[in-house]
Amino acid sequence: NQADIGVIGMAVMGKNLALNIESHGYTVSVFNRTSAKTKSFVENHEDKNLVPSFKLTDFVNSLKAPRKIIIMIKAGKPVDNILNQLASLLDKGDVIIDGGNANFHDTIRRSANLTKDGIYFLGMGVSGGEQGALHGPSLMPGGQEKAYEMVKPILTKIAAKAHDGTPCVTYVGPNGAGHYVKMIHNGIEYGDEELIDETYNLLRNIVGFNVDQLSKIFAKWNQGELDSYLIKITADILSRKDDLSSDQSVPIVDMILDEGENKGTGRWSSEDAMAIGAPQSLITESVFARFISMMKNQRMHAAQVLPGPEKKDQVKPDKDVVEEACQALYFGKIMSYAQGFVQLEMASKTYKWHLKYGKLAQIWRAGCIIRAKFLQKITDAFAKKPNLQNLLMDSYFAGIAKKYQKSARKIVALATLDGIPVPCLSAAVSYYDSFRAKVLPANLLQAQRDYFGAHTYHRIDRPGTFHYTWYKEE
Ligand code: 6PG
Repeated sequence: NQADIGVIGMAVMGKNLALNIESHGYTVSVFNRTSAKTKSFVENHEDKNLVPSFKLTDFVNSLKAPRKIIIMIKAGKPVDNILNQLASLLDKGDVIIDGGNANFHDTIRRSANLTKDGIYFLGMGVSGGEQGALHGPSLMPGGQEKAYEMVKPILTKIAAKAHDGTPCVTYVGPNGAGHYVKMIHNGIEYGDEELIDETYNLLRNIVGFNVDQLSKIFAKWNQGELDSYLIKITADILSRKDDLSSDQSVPIVDMILDEGENKGTGRWSSEDAMAIGAPQSLITESVFARFISMMKNQRMHAAQVLPGPEKKDQVKPDKDVVEEACQALYFGKIMSYAQGFVQLEMASKTYKWHLKYGKLAQIWRAGCIIRAKFLQKITDAFAKKPNLQNLLMDSYFAGIAKKYQKSARKIVALATLDGIPVPCLSAAVSYYDSFRAKVLPANLLQAQRDYFGAHTYHRIDRPGTFHYTWYKEE
């Protein structure tokens, strides 16, 4: 009576994924480096079809052939270690799935190595946190399509279901494509978070709303175009009081240190945007916003010596500021996703992945952290035009940009004049204006490069490469 599939790594994501798979009628083998975790997990779920193993060989032998193994362990070196051990125990045609947040370069390398031994390898993005893993995550598997077909029935069952019933899983593309798409998902997640955080900060500090009022504002926004998981949890977070204080009126958010940490995936999406030449300013600003927040001591010192705008130069918010902030946030979100999908398109060409953008938007509609009503609009846009070059070229998004740009500009101007940082909102407006510019000052840039370095330039009136005689050689 062998198991249908195995899960390695009994931290919360691994445990919850194993329970999710089991709940769909499968027998699941489980293994962890430290046996105690496997033991207590299985003991706590005696009624489930879980098969514990305390040696990797036993774990491998407990699986039906061809074996299917999901690893849910810390990204990096631990993954290489377990893959090396597995490679010597598995047979040709077995499948390993890495469900962690691996760097896609590592996934490409690992895929090539395992292929030499005839072992299939899927790098699979898993989004949705602990609850998602248990009740239905969004899954982004990449690797050999044949290997995907082998695990498709299981993945389809355990994935979240969108409102129309479609499972949130699709074959993403070869080798590192799945982990790349998850990396962009996380970059977008950073951007969404920062856009929300900037909006909260400016409404709080410029308009003077208190935290309870802000909770209600976000809850209301969650009823409209901004309807999304991150807006919903923000409304909830802002309604919560400090659990460690005897004073029941202190919002928990005011007791949390303002140092934004990260585990790397957002930074990687910026790094690859740089590597492939994708104009990904919004995610990058959100990564930088976390970095500058970490400089708490320096900021505390700078706050003493660097003045902001004088009171007389600050502007009063409009009476419609809440509605304008809501529109600015939606405008920002559109720019962020427009940039994210352009990056996916450029990556697809660079790494030869043939990504299906509409399918990606479709599997992000439920289960994952960036799930939002808005993703249906992106799904629709790509359904209309599968090779849409930029979301802003779709009539829905173009229409919103046209309608909300005024609010976005007003909010960025208001924040700037009042000395409140809005790196992502202002990146959104600048991207919109750069993208729609007939002429950018890159003509002057080219002249500068040609002036000091004879780097040459192209002309608007004739083909060829030119160099201007800026000065006579002495
Ligand atoms: C998800 C999340 C998850 C990620 C956390 C933390 O899709 O479920 O993206 O994979 O690990 O959001 O990321 P940071 O620590 O980098 O903010």
